[in-house]
Amino acid sequence: MKRTIAIIVLLVCAVSIRAQQTTHLVVNGYDPKTIISRHIYGHFSEHLGRCIYDGFWVNDSMNVPKKDRIRLDVVEALKKIKIPNLRWPGGCFADEYHWRDGIGPRKQRPTMINTNWGNVTEDNSFGTHEFLDLCSLLGCEPYITGNVGSGTVEEMSKWIEYLNFDGLSPLTTLRKENGRATPWNVSFWGVGNESWGCGGSMTPEYYSDQFKRYATFAKNYPNARLKKIATGPNSEDYNWTDVIMKNIGTRMWGLSLHYYTVPRTWGNKGSATDFDEKEYLTTMQKCLKMDEMITKHSTIMDKYDPEKRVSLVVDEWGIWTNVEPGTNPAFLYQQNSLRDALVAGTTLNIFNNHSDRVRMANLAQTINVLQSLILTQGNKILLTPTYHVFDLYKVHQDAKLLPIHLNSPDYTIDNQKIPAVNVSASQDSTGAVHISLVNLDASKKITVQTTLEGISWKTVEGQIITSAKFTDVNSFDKPDNIKPTVFKGAKKSGNELTAELPPLSIVVLELK
Ligand code: AHR
Repeated sequence: MKRTIAIIVLLVCAVSIRAQQTTHLVVNGYDPKTIISRHIYGHFSEHLGRCIYDGFWVNDSMNVPKKDRIRLDVVEALKKIKIPNLRWPGGCFADEYHWRDGIGPRKQRPTMINTNWGNVTEDNSFGTHEFLDLCSLLGCEPYITGNVGSGTVEEMSKWIEYLNFDGLSPLTTLRKENGRATPWNVSFWGVGNESWGCGGSMTPEYYSDQFKRYATFAKNYPNARLKKIATGPNSEDYNWTDVIMKNIGTRMWGLSLHYYTVPRTWGNKGSATDFDEKEYLTTMQKCLKMDEMITKHSTIMDKYDPEKRVSLVVDEWGIWTNVEPGTNPAFLYQQNSLRDALVAGTTLNIFNNHSDRVRMANLAQTINVLQSLILTQGNKILLTPTYHVFDLYKVHQDAKLLPIHLNSPDYTIDNQKIPAVNVSASQDSTGAVHISLVNLDASKKITVQTTLEGISWKTVEGQIITSAKFTDVNSFDKPDNIKPTVFKGAKKSGNELTAELPPLSIVVLELK
């Protein structure tokens, strides 16, 4: 009998050891220097599927609060997460967009075919004025991408004059006739998009010369110094970065990087909601690749720009899956699960920890497209698990990065393994410290014991985003299935902090 009890006790202990682990984290609060730019928390809105039309910009007949045709419930949700900037009009669409078609009386605006996204007719009712009105309602900075692929140097130059010049010219007169007396002073300016692909299939050598031509005539008007952002590499194209840095160097404010987390392959990306644990782990492995890519691109940039004057701008990132069954394949509409939230939390931790070089980023795309923050259905809106991550992480915006050291345990299935935990930390202007922790392990609780060096604090509070399964979603029937709740798993003993992270969780702690 005694032997049986002993075996049972041993088995119970073994199971509970298997189901939980402990790891140690050090947060260094001595003399933090790097600021986590709030622009890392930026978003992207392209004329694609239902992002602009039926997302931000709805028909007059739609029964929702609106300013002009801009949906105000969407605006309120994005203001809550302090959206710092919004990228527009694309994407691939930017390199076939002609801005003059989108100004003036709406009924007189010419239509065009959106050849990249389903050959739908674009009526140009949402153009420059409407986008900038949206940014002003959101209280965010506009980030406009000019047309290098099918446009001209003159067209881009004149758009900037229309936007930013305060003096007398035919274009500023036209702007006034169209209802805007003062310039908008737009500063974030993309010189083309994916010029290696949908933006013109250019080589990096050819693009460098194009950038210089376009940038020469993209003028800095008083109070509107442009932050020119060059088309950067597609994922791991390190040669692109090398050539652009060599040829353009510090003449650009930023170099963009596009990288999407594709669970399977580009031909069959995998479902947004129906996947097993193996596919979940592969997805997170691909998401974590962002860290390696930023490190390698930054190392190349350091060669030409050791003072890190040029920013790395990850202006397209996120998970890209197959579209929802039954929806237009060209509209890229996908659901958003707890897995998406874990992708967001992990990627934002990576960006924070690289904020000496990464000073801007844009999740693709805000509403109804790819890894969205918001989904809409008629007059209903739904906040996705990804939205809630941005809500919790907003505390890092413009705070000082606190360097960390973490030896994460592995999360292993079959022969695949990834670090189970990722973390970033910052200190805001009031002295409060925020630590964002992600536990990717699907079954193990992980206890993180933290030593805080150079930080004195008295209290800890936290919030958590989690759910039973990585496939769990918010739906229009159950919109609050996944949302932040109070986290009770953190405690202080002496100056040590202990946090028990449940499996599949994102936790943000505040220490005061
Ligand atoms: O975000 C969808 C598309 O992905 C963008 O239009 C393009 O830049 C990228 O290839």
